[in-house]
Formats: sequence, C-alpha cells, structure tokens
Amino acid sequence: MRDVAIIGVGMTSFGELWNQGIRDIFAEAALNAMKDAGVTKLDSMYVGAMSSGLYAGQEHIASVMADYIGQRGVPSTRVESACASGGLAVKSAFIEVASGMSDIVLAGGVEKMWDADDGSAILATASDQEWEAYHGVTFPGLYAMMARVYMDRYGLTREELARIPVKAHRHAINNPNAQYPHPMTIETVLKSSMVADPLRLMDCSPITDGAACVILCPLDRAGEFTKNPVKIKAIGAATGPIALHDHKDLTRLDAVHSSAQRAYNMAGVGPGDIDFVEVHDCFSIAEILVAEVLGFFEYGTGGKAIAEGQATYGGKIVINPSGGLKAKGHPVGATGVAQIIEATEQLQHRAGKRQIENAKLGLTQNMGGSGGSSIVHILEAV
Ligand code: COA
Repeated sequence: MRDVAIIGVGMTSFGELWNQGIRDIFAEAALNAMKDAGVTKLDSMYVGAMSSGLYAGQEHIASVMADYIGQRGVPSTRVESACASGGLAVKSAFIEVASGMSDIVLAGGVEKMWDADDGSAILATASDQEWEAYHGVTFPGLYAMMARVYMDRYGLTREELARIPVKAHRHAINNPNAQYPHPMTIETVLKSSMVADPLRLMDCSPITDGAACVILCPLDRAGEFTKNPVKIKAIGAATGPIALHDHKDLTRLDAVHSSAQRAYNMAGVGPGDIDFVEVHDCFSIAEILVAEVLGFFEYGTGGKAIAEGQATYGGKIVINPSGGLKAKGHPVGATGVAQIIEATEQLQHRAGKRQIENAKLGLTQNMGGSGGSSIVHILEAV
C-alpha cells in the first residue's frame, strides 16, 4: 500500500447559501481545493452526500459534479453513510490512491439543506425507519435519551452541559467559514427553546448548506504540488446498530470505539500522542461521549472535564478548534471532509487565530446517525 497525502483543500463558508445551488457550492469547494493543490486534471473523484435527492432534488450527483467542475469523463463515485458520508468519501479516495490505481483524486462532501421544507424528516431517514422515525423520533430526541442516561448516571448538571456549546462558539469566532461565529453565554444556552428534553436549541447542530473538498495523491509525489503535505497516517471505519435500543449502553458508542481502535492500531499511536481532535458534536452530549470513547477522558468524567476547560486551548486536548458542528455548522455530507480540512490547516500551521501550537498529529471522527457508522482519520504533518 502506498502512503497517501493531502495536497490541497477548499470549502465554502457554511450557513444559509440561498444564492447558490448544490452544484455551485460543490464546484466552489472543488475548484478551491484544486487551486490550492495546483492541479487542473483529476484522475478520479468521490462525492459524499447524505441525501441530495431529498434535499435538493438531484440524484446522480457524482456525474453532475464531475461535469460541472470541468472534469467530464473522469470516474466519479457518490458515497453515502448518513452524516459520515464525507469521511467515507475521503476513505474511498485514500484506498484508490493507496492501491496505486490513481494518483490525483478529489474527495468531497456536499449538502444543501435549507432548500427543503421538511429537513428534520429528511435527517430522520438516517435513523431506523421501523423502530424510530415511523414513531416520530428525530435525532434530537435520540441524543436526548443518551444525554438523560449520562447525566443521571454521572451527575452531569444542565449548566455543565451548557458549557460545551459555549466553548464551541468561542472557537468558531476565529473561523471565517463558520455559520455562527459569535459568542454564546451559558444563560443563552439555558434559556434557548427546548427541543428534546434535556437538549435545547443551543445544544443542537444547525441546518446548514455547505461543501468541502480535499485533493489526495501519493506521498512520494506530494512535493510536486506543495511544500507542506499532510499524511493520512491511518483510517478506521466501523458500523454499529442503527436503532438506539440495540446499543448495549447508551453512553458508549461502539462504532466510534471500533473505528478509533482500528485507526490507532494502523497508525501505531494512542490517544496520548494526539495533539488535537475534530469530533462529531452533532449535539452537546455527543462531544462528551465521543471524547470518552476515543480515550481522551475516562468514562463518566468527560462531561465535567470539558466543562472545566480541559478541551480548549491550554487544557488537556483541544477538541473542535473549528467550532465543531455546533457552531461551524453541519451540512451533513460535507462535515467529515470539513473536519479533515481543519486538521490539515492545523498541521500546515495555517489556521490563523485558531492555530494550536506545535500541532503534529490530529484526529478526526465523523459519525453517521446516532452511532450507526463512524470513521476516524489520523493525520500527520510531514
Ligand atoms: N446556534 C446558534 N444559533 C442557532 C442555532 C445554533 N445551533 N440553530 C439555530 N440558531 C438560530 C437561528 O439562526 C435562528 O435565529 P433567527 O430567528 O434570528 O433567524 C433561531 O436560532 C431559530 O433557528 P431555526 O433554524 O429557525 O430553528 P428550528 O426550530 O427550525 O430548528 C433544530 C432547530 C434544532 C430543530 C434544527 O436546527 C435541527 O434539527 N438541528 C439538528 C440537526 C440534526 O439532527 N443533524 C443531524 C445530527 S445526527
């Protein structure tokens, strides 16, 4: 297997992009990434999207996007794993480059969510139709059940939980692409409308339009394109039960655990070696559960540790320097790629005011649904 590097990144700003269609935002991100890498011709491409048909009325988007970005004729594949579709696109591109089949491969993700009227119902198609969605449960409701168990078992207070989105917004202030780059107070979180008890509006990632792309090539060719390539040191993917009631423990996300162990084993590193992480904080409780399963905090201690400042600059490990899904935004199919862009920019030391000093090894974790799939990437500055 060949070593694989990221040689270019590009994304749109995240938010309500009313003046652009799905192909426009994908093209903006893709052309930015190609410009960043200094390439004009791709050998292959992957497009991650959770539900372009339901959100934007457009299926067959792998071909649409190849054509629209001027790569007509290039093999292009759409991949889907709910909110982990972006991570899966990068994994698929990695395999194609690592195998020696292709050299210059684009991995992108996109979602245009604001155009649809029934966004919650579309998201719920990624939950279990027979056991959950049919009965009216949405993702905020599913994660609320996890939050209830965690808070009850470990004594996490509502105010401590509120400190997690407050931290996310503080990080997002320095991210020019974030949907909500403004400060947030604990009081605002606690007064925001109840969505699914105990989760309030400010505990939830928002509805977002956005696209993100990266360009991969063999590490031994990376010097032709950039002075500071980032190596994809390891990837771990796993599936888990789609329905929440099939989880052995609502506070332990098995797919995240398996995907992380695979990535740690492949990289030959452990949580203590990682300098920063981008995790799938689709709800405030998710950041805690994922941080614990990844091994950054003991089970049951992550909530209080993050509330006390252990997951921000100067703490044990910086979690979500980008602002995370909560404050940067969560255009579902694009999220996994955007996490990798944040990690790449941190490792290239071009993250501006968000820069983590001496960042050498970063980890990203991208989740599908309420733990039905998870993909972990470990990236290294070379
Ligand atoms: N942070 C800060 N402000 C936010 C916000 C957020 N996360 N989400 C919404 N807002 C603001 C909006 O800008 C809006 O402000 P305005 O009235 O000044 O325009 C206001 O809060 C209301 O937002 P709106 O989007 O109209 O709320 P909504 O009730 O339609 O939807 C949710 C709120 C939580 C139901 C919706 O965002 C949601 O479903 N989120 C979860 C998405 C999800 O499940 N993703 C998949 C995870 S696995």
